[in-house]
Amino acid sequence: MSAFRDGLFDGKVVFVAGGTSGINLGIAKRFAELGAKVAVVGRNPEKAANAAAEIGHGAIGLSSDVRDYGAIRASMEHIVETFGKMDVVVSGAAGNFLAPALGMSANAFRTVVDIDLNGTFNVFRGCHDLLNDNASLIAITAGQAVNPMAMQAHACAAKAGINQLVRVLAMEWGPNVRVNGISPGPIAGTEGMARLSPEGADRAKHFERIPLKRWGEIDEIAEAAVFLSSESARYVTGTILDVDGGSQLGDASRMDTSKGLSG
Ligand code: NAP
Ligand code: COA
Repeated sequence: MSAFRDGLFDGKVVFVAGGTSGINLGIAKRFAELGAKVAVVGRNPEKAANAAAEIGHGAIGLSSDVRDYGAIRASMEHIVETFGKMDVVVSGAAGNFLAPALGMSANAFRTVVDIDLNGTFNVFRGCHDLLNDNASLIAITAGQAVNPMAMQAHACAAKAGINQLVRVLAMEWGPNVRVNGISPGPIAGTEGMARLSPEGADRAKHFERIPLKRWGEIDEIAEAAVFLSSESARYVTGTILDVDGGSQLGDASRMDTSKGLSG
C-alpha cells in the first residue's frame, strides 16, 4: 500500500542506472506508476528491453556499462533528447560475490569498486548539466559501507566510498540538486540476497537478529526513493536513509524486552 498519490511524478523524467532487475527495477516501476517517464540502463541489452516492457508506461531500456563514462553519458543524452531533462537519477548498478580478500585478485577487487563507486561517480558527474532544477540524485548503497563484513572487502570499500561521495556532492551541488543515498537491508527475492544470504537454519537466525524480524520488500525501497525525490524531502540532502528494519543497529536476537524492571 503506497502513501503516494497517483500522478505525483507526472511529466518528470527518471533515469535508473542498474534498473534492469531487482531493487532498482522496482524503483523504476514505482516512478512509472506515479506518472514519470522512465529510462533504465544495464549491460545486457535483452534484459534492458525486457525491463522496459515490464515497467510499461513508455519506459526505455538501454544498454551501457556504468564503468564507461562516455557510454553512460551517451545514454543520458539520448534520454534527454527523447524525454527532456532529468528530474531523478538513481545510481544502483552493483556487482558482488563472497570472497575473502586473499581469494580476490587485484582485478576482482577493482571490478566491484569500478562498478559500484566509480560507476556512481560516472552516473552523477555525467548527469549534472542534464538535470532540471530541484533534481534528486539517489545512490543505492548498503550496510557494508558502515559495518565491516568478512568476505566483502570490495563491497565494503566501494559502498563506504559511495556514502562519502553522496555527502560531498550534496555540499557542492546545492541548492538546485539534492543528493542522498538509500541503504537497503536484506531484501527478499533479489540477486544480492541470492549471492550473500545464509541458508536453512542460519536464515531463520538471520531473521531473529533483525529488529523488525523479517527481510524487506523491493517496494519498501521504492517508496523510500519516491519520498526522497518528492516535495516532502525538499530540505533533505546528504543523508543516507537506512531502509533495513533496523538491521544496522546490531543483533536483536538475544533481547527479552517483554518484561519491565518492576515485576
Ligand atoms: P541486481 O538485481 O543484480 O541488480 C543489479 C543491476 O545493475 C542490474 O540491472 C544489472 O544489469 C546492473 N549492472 C551490473 N553491473 C553493471 C554495470 N557495470 N553497468 C551497468 N549496469 C550494471 O541486484 P539487487 O540485489 O537488486 O541490488 C541492487 C542494488 O541494491 C545494488 O546497488 C546493491 O548493492 C544494493 N543492495 C542490495 C541489497 C539486497 O538485499 N539485494 C541489500 C543492500 C544493498 P546487467 O547485469 O544487465 O548489467
Ligand atoms: N570469487 C573471487 N573472484 C571472483 C569471483 C568470486 N566469486 N567472481 C568473479 N571474480 C573475479 C574474476 O575471476 C575476475 O578476476 P581475474 O580477472 O583476476 O580472474 C574479476 O572478478 C572480474 O570478473 P569478470 O567476470 O570478468 O567481471 P564482470 O565485469 O564480467 O562481472 C561481477 C562483474 C564479477 C561483479 C559479476 O558477478 C556481475 O556481473 N555481477 C552483477 C550482478 C550482481 O553482482 N548483483 C548483486 C548486486 S548486490
